[in-house]
Amino acid sequence: MLDRVSETVAQIAARIAAGDARALARAATSIENRTAESAALLRQLTPHAGRAIVAGITGPPGAGKSTLVDALARAIRHGGKTVGILAVDPTSRVSGGAILGDRIRMQAHHSDAGVFIRSMATRGAVGGLARATADLALLLDAAGKDYVLIETVGVGQDEVEVAGVADVTVLVLVPGMGDDVQAIKAGIMEIADIFVINKADYPGADRVESEIASVLSLAHRPDGWQPPILRTVATEDKGIAELLDAIAKFPRRTRGASGTHQQARPAEFAIDHLGIAVKSIEAALGFYQGQLGMQVASREIVPHEKVNVAMLPVGGPRIELLEPTDPDSVVGRFLAKRGEALHHVALRVPDLAAAVARLRASGARLLNEPQTGAGGHLYVFVHPASTGGVLLELIEDK
Ligand code: CO
Repeated sequence: MLDRVSETVAQIAARIAAGDARALARAATSIENRTAESAALLRQLTPHAGRAIVAGITGPPGAGKSTLVDALARAIRHGGKTVGILAVDPTSRVSGGAILGDRIRMQAHHSDAGVFIRSMATRGAVGGLARATADLALLLDAAGKDYVLIETVGVGQDEVEVAGVADVTVLVLVPGMGDDVQAIKAGIMEIADIFVINKADYPGADRVESEIASVLSLAHRPDGWQPPILRTVATEDKGIAELLDAIAKFPRRTRGASGTHQQARPAEFAIDHLGIAVKSIEAALGFYQGQLGMQVASREIVPHEKVNVAMLPVGGPRIELLEPTDPDSVVGRFLAKRGEALHHVALRVPDLAAAVARLRASGARLLNEPQTGAGGHLYVFVHPASTGGVLLELIEDK
């Protein structure tokens, strides 16, 4: 343990980010035990995180979640990717140690350095477990795991909070629990992004699917997502590839509560926002906020653009309402010419300087030099003549 004392937190973080399995295991224990150094370590690790797909696997006892998680881990490894598994048991008071079933699982993956498994039991108050789970997910993400699977035992409040840590929540149900679907819908049905009917070779799969579908038909998710209902037989690896595909393709939201992930996949292209030119933000909010029920995340005036801005999140991307403060402004002239309409589409790009260089070299019409916008991001506009008729804003987050 002496080497640990003499090693700085930054050095430990660097070793974890470089894939050092021993440093990872020790850091996990440190985070679970809330040692003095763990908070500093998490701060050092944060810049290394943000690439993993974090999936919560939840559902009632007996749904076969452990088997399903194991099958997913095999499929992930088969695809050449790495995975961390966090088995969270709010009902267990076991302190620090693994529950029996997980010891067996650990042996199954024992020789595989691409799989990291850790069991967690309840520690103190509700919310503490979610926090610890978020911190461990951050650790595994920073350690370069491609996937982090968070498995919870039941469908209570703890599970709902733990699910909030994940990018995508998978609710596992089984045939023969039609009434239970109704019973659990109050809690976790609303937060499920993907439904899985496991043990789908058992009688009653159709019944439970129609139960799920009827509950879903009543639900209105603010992000407009229609959760798919998939079928698996985890013991035979059936439907697992399709489930993994659905997990990987789920549109990721920004994880805010724990502060672990500020930005979804910065290294990829994504829609950042849609800019809509309006005569009056107040009038437009009557629709977006009043009638549609969306929330305003921020409002500001951008003096050099002579425009008032309201941002409304739509999952990850946002709608940007633009109201000119002066008719003699870009948005003001647009309104005079075209009326209220979609003004621009903003794409987040991995490397704005590289994109600008490529566009310049190919003769695309850039409307400005890359400059720093209100949110601290770099942006450039590309003329509709070059983009197929849409004013395109390219953005890179710092
Ligand atoms: Co914009």
